[in-house]
Amino acid sequence: MNPSNTNRSGSSVNIVWIVVGGFAIILGGVLLSTLTPLLLPTEGSAEAQQVDALFRFMLAIGGAIFLLVNGVLAYSIIRFRARANDYSDGPPIQGNTTLEFVWTLIPAIIVTVVTIYAYSVWVNIRSVKENEQLVNVTGQRFAWSFTYNITESELSALGLSPEVTTDERVTSRFAEGGSVPFNYPQLHTWVGQPVHVELQTQDVNHAFWIPGMRIKQDLLAGRVTDIRFTPIEPGVYRIVCAELCGSGHGDMAGRVDELGNLTGAWLVVHPDEETFLREFYSPEAGTTVATLVEEDPVVIGRQLLISGTYPCAGCHVLDDLSWSSVIGPNLNNIGNRAATRVAGLSAEEYIHNSIRHPADYVVGGYSNLMPQFNPEPDQPNYMPEEHLDAIVAYLLTQQEG
Ligand code: CUA
Repeated sequence: MNPSNTNRSGSSVNIVWIVVGGFAIILGGVLLSTLTPLLLPTEGSAEAQQVDALFRFMLAIGGAIFLLVNGVLAYSIIRFRARANDYSDGPPIQGNTTLEFVWTLIPAIIVTVVTIYAYSVWVNIRSVKENEQLVNVTGQRFAWSFTYNITESELSALGLSPEVTTDERVTSRFAEGGSVPFNYPQLHTWVGQPVHVELQTQDVNHAFWIPGMRIKQDLLAGRVTDIRFTPIEPGVYRIVCAELCGSGHGDMAGRVDELGNLTGAWLVVHPDEETFLREFYSPEAGTTVATLVEEDPVVIGRQLLISGTYPCAGCHVLDDLSWSSVIGPNLNNIGNRAATRVAGLSAEEYIHNSIRHPADYVVGGYSNLMPQFNPEPDQPNYMPEEHLDAIVAYLLTQQEG
């Protein structure tokens, strides 16, 4: 046989294999980048579409490189395996300038393209949108609270005048921007409405994550951080804390209880603004504002706890309010037990003191985790005396029978 013939047919076979292999690798990368996102939650926001497109782009490149590297590796393991009794070394191979140039140039191009693409997505997501709905988010161990601002005109639409309250947190807001805050343990908005959330923590660092919106932002002690998203799909989306913040970290998320009720923090996206106003905003804002003029402390206390103004739901069980977290003592029927807990303290005094000075009243079997709620506005975890009295009055009604 003529050696040059063998070479010619050998190299044309090699070219065929390289072309076939190249196609397989590209096809594999495209398949990986198309199929993997099927595992992700629904794309609920405009930002999610951009983030996922970037993810697919990077996965196609990364997937192709993965298949190339592992394909060559698998081929080499089989093709160049050691034969029986062969203890010789392979041929010494010196540098190949062309090859090194190519394998430096290609990654440099890929990294540059990915950087420009990713930066443009980042800038798009961060950019200020027109007509934003501002929601202030507070993270506290172990619950989220969302503060919406009611303007004076919305307040009068609810039939209430701005003079309804002397609560200094309300009156100071009026002085600043003409709106009152109302708290709620869930985040509500509607399709097409750009949302701007400003995030603050009362204690340690947390991270605000809505997987369905593809947004995640840290809450940093002593700073206000923010993030934006625009929902495009109506529905209910889990909100999750993504920063280890203590023993109740795993409970700082939307949950479904054994009865199928949603508890904890959820994002509810209404189909349109009208539904949002009718089903969420007017009733909830109305109830909250009504409690500002409400006289009965039991009603006010219950509303304060429902609103998420204080993060009690993050740690306690209380069936009346569908709380189901077991980090702290169970509050069901607390009104029956409170008087018997500490000799010399009435039920009222016991509950009052254990909110002001929780460290002195740790219940056996539980850790000293509860924040101390302080009576002065300049202290952390401020809880005005009227709020505390109302909460105590409400908790005292939690009795058997
Ligand atoms: Cu808050 Cu983890």
